[in-house]
Amino acid sequence: TIALGVLVSGSGSNLQAILDRVADGGLDADIRIVIANKPDAQGLERARKAGIATACVRHDEFPERAAFDGELVRLLREAGVELVALAGFMRILTPAFLTPFAGRVVNIHPALLPACPGLRAQGQQADHGVRLAGCTVHFVDEQMDHGPIIIQAAVPAYPDDDEATLGVRILEMEHRIYPQALHWIAQGRVRVEGRQVVVRDASRTMGALW
Ligand code: GAR
Repeated sequence: TIALGVLVSGSGSNLQAILDRVADGGLDADIRIVIANKPDAQGLERARKAGIATACVRHDEFPERAAFDGELVRLLREAGVELVALAGFMRILTPAFLTPFAGRVVNIHPALLPACPGLRAQGQQADHGVRLAGCTVHFVDEQMDHGPIIIQAAVPAYPDDDEATLGVRILEMEHRIYPQALHWIAQGRVRVEGRQVVVRDASRTMGALW
């Protein structure tokens, strides 16, 4: 069982998917704390409902990113967190965070990276007229939406899609792949070799996922 910390900024539907998989045994994790950078993040409410400890660290109360990051690290360490999952956490992390948690931070992004990093990835894909959209779970490095890829999944995109309709289709897929990636890590099956992430016996679980 891995000690997980989840960072959110908004609705927290990926957090909910993680909570649901922990509850039904599909993800072998103990969620120690959920932290938001905004007091009104709906993810905090979802965590409270599940009986999970929460904290709010307002980024606008910190003059520098490094100080904000340091406070996150302090809270995560205090909670005994081994692995940090960014779930719609819309702040860029600095070395003040990424050094103490090196190799232990994962993120989900609503596009097939390296395509469409950054904000409004769903809208970027709809505007571009892609026919395959998707989502990516990756280890986090110091560049935005960048780092070794653990899993990706594609969904179709149609000419009449817009940011919202495509976003819903991508989000449903996010909810499937994020808990799966976290479970692989929890089981100690994930290893990073340079740019490549190797998952032991991935094909076995992939059958169940698709
Ligand atoms: C998700 O689509 C996630 O992939 C995206 O924010 C949304 C959060 O939704 N993250 C990023 O764009 C990171 N660059 P949620 O709060 O309902 O999980």
